[in-house]
Amino acid sequence: MAMKLKKVVPLGRSFDEYRLMFNLSKQDLCKRIIGVGDGPASFNAEMYAMGKPVVSIDPIYMFSAKDIQRKFDKVVDNIIEQVRNTPGDWTWTYHMSPDDLRDHRKEALDNFTSDFEQGKEDGRYLRGELPSLEFQDGTFDIALCSHFLFLYSDHYDYNFHKAAVYEMLRVSEEARIFPLLDLMLNRSPHIDPLIEELERDGFVVKIKKVPYEIQRGGNQMMWVFKKPAHRKLLI
Ligand SMILES: C[S@@+](CC[C@H](N)C(=O)[O-])C[C@H]1O[C@@H](n2cnc3c(N)ncnc32)[C@H](O)[C@@H]1O
Repeated sequence: MAMKLKKVVPLGRSFDEYRLMFNLSKQDLCKRIIGVGDGPASFNAEMYAMGKPVVSIDPIYMFSAKDIQRKFDKVVDNIIEQVRNTPGDWTWTYHMSPDDLRDHRKEALDNFTSDFEQGKEDGRYLRGELPSLEFQDGTFDIALCSHFLFLYSDHYDYNFHKAAVYEMLRVSEEARIFPLLDLMLNRSPHIDPLIEELERDGFVVKIKKVPYEIQRGGNQMMWVFKKPAHRKLLI
């Protein structure tokens, strides 16, 4: 058994984790990026501090930083306990132990909360949710989704996943999704039918090995982009 969660939990990752999970190059980091389901990740805050603003979307942004912190506090001990009780399910190369993992999640949360209210005013944190994003076609170059799609495959069905990924590809030239495993460490059952549909519709889909792993065996990212003919001509 890996992890049982009744609903999606607000735990966030750092810039460094995003960089590794999504194979983000220096050039990628200068592009127009949207993080979908970014929750209390500190990717946005850290990118902003580097002078590279990104947009994060999450339904949880309807709450205040304090409320999000309370939600984190409510679930974090149970999650770390579940991790501690299933030692064979985790890879301790990036985070060194369950306690180290907890510290990293708290650090990301603190970076997020200290940036959140200002970022909301700047329009960098927007309340929104898949499968419908309030942006025009092609607003972004890269759409990222970490630890929401595929991970919660038991909570969201195939049609939700399909609509969500196509929506990411409507607002962005490409989409990157990590991990491909669900909470029970199984490869999401939605992946293969989705790849088939995307390829049939002319998208290029690549499954890339990445230098980040915490769920044992969870070191792959889905990278989907439009074939050149799909891309709009830049005049
Ligand atoms: C496990 S957290 C991951 C946060 C962040 N992406 C990371 O990896 O650090 C999952 C996030 O998905 C968000 N979420 C839930 N339903 C969503 C939806 N329909 N569309 C977008 N995000 C959603 C939750 O609010 C939560 O913040």
